[in-house]
Amino acid sequence: MPLTASPRAALLAALLLASGCAGGAASSAAATPAAPAPADAAPAVPPIPSLARAYQGSFLVGAATNPAQVLMGDTHELIARQFNVIVADNDMKPLLLNRREGRYEFGMADQVVDWAVKNGIKVRGHCLVWHQQAAPWIFTQDGTPVSREVLIARMRTYIHDVVGHYKGKVWAWDVVNEAFAPGEPGIDTEMGWRRSDWYRIIGPDYIALAFQFAHEADPDALLFYNDYDTESPAKRQLILELVRSLQKKGIRIDGVGHQAHSYLSQPDVADLEATIREVARLGVKNHVTELDVSLRERWGSPVLEATPAVLKRQAERYADLFRMFKRNREAIDAVLIWGISDETAWRKEAQPVLFSEYRPKPAFWAVIEEAAR
Ligand code: XIL
Repeated sequence: MPLTASPRAALLAALLLASGCAGGAASSAAATPAAPAPADAAPAVPPIPSLARAYQGSFLVGAATNPAQVLMGDTHELIARQFNVIVADNDMKPLLLNRREGRYEFGMADQVVDWAVKNGIKVRGHCLVWHQQAAPWIFTQDGTPVSREVLIARMRTYIHDVVGHYKGKVWAWDVVNEAFAPGEPGIDTEMGWRRSDWYRIIGPDYIALAFQFAHEADPDALLFYNDYDTESPAKRQLILELVRSLQKKGIRIDGVGHQAHSYLSQPDVADLEATIREVARLGVKNHVTELDVSLRERWGSPVLEATPAVLKRQAERYADLFRMFKRNREAIDAVLIWGISDETAWRKEAQPVLFSEYRPKPAFWAVIEEAAR
């Protein structure tokens, strides 16, 4: 439930005291008589509590961002205060890093990574192998599909170059993204595996190869398999089977990333929790990698108007999810939201994240309040 004004004020005061933000101004004001405020002075805006700090000891809290946000003064301060892990929402994808064969454009991504390193913020690298936003040249040569050997060699080069470039700076990589789509209408699959170009040209062991290459390139980076709808029992089985098979082959995998793109009534929190627990039982970690809660009842249903009642439901939904994350904190190392402020979020039409115009929404306060429970 969102906070009413007075408990919220009390919570805010407690969090600010705990983070050492309050007190100084009051005591200096007591020592020196205050000068009369000019008539047009803006009211003092107290700093809002920090999500990262609120969940310290449970898991890291982060968000997807981009070079513009980390370079602009007002937004980079908010990001640095709120989050202790970030991910580039697009800038580290092959389409942006490697538009032409043999040429890398690291400039934009480097800005995000270097800013994070400088500010002591961890970086998730997203993503190395995906059917979307792939390097446009990688699957073909002179207009015809490349052979299995050529594609493996190209994948190896790409992963070595990119993971090598960020060695020691990227904490965790999404090595493979969205390999499964069991029963999804309109998607070409085989036994639940998406028949992407990677799958059709290399075969199912493209995943093991990608993990092997990533580990060679940076033995210290954590390596994740990432997907959406991980709460679905069919996808859960495929993911668990993948983790087991990599483990059996002695190939390093450190965890599973749950995108968790959500709606007001979907997914069922218990289903996502079941997947998180099963993953942990295999001895690997969970990251919630792309959390958002669209103002829609469920996938494909219309966007609801952002009335106070609807924003309250969004806040409750975020609180339900964070409550579940908290009770599974032993199994979850990081929770990242897919965007910082609604206007620039991927699903902006459905106002899915915690800030609007970089100001906290009811959902932000609900997540903060949940931390203190
Ligand atoms: C999205 C970006 O946020 C958009 O800006 C882009 O146009 C498309 O990709 N799953 C993923 C992310 O793994 O990489 C996607 O990001 C959102 C869905």
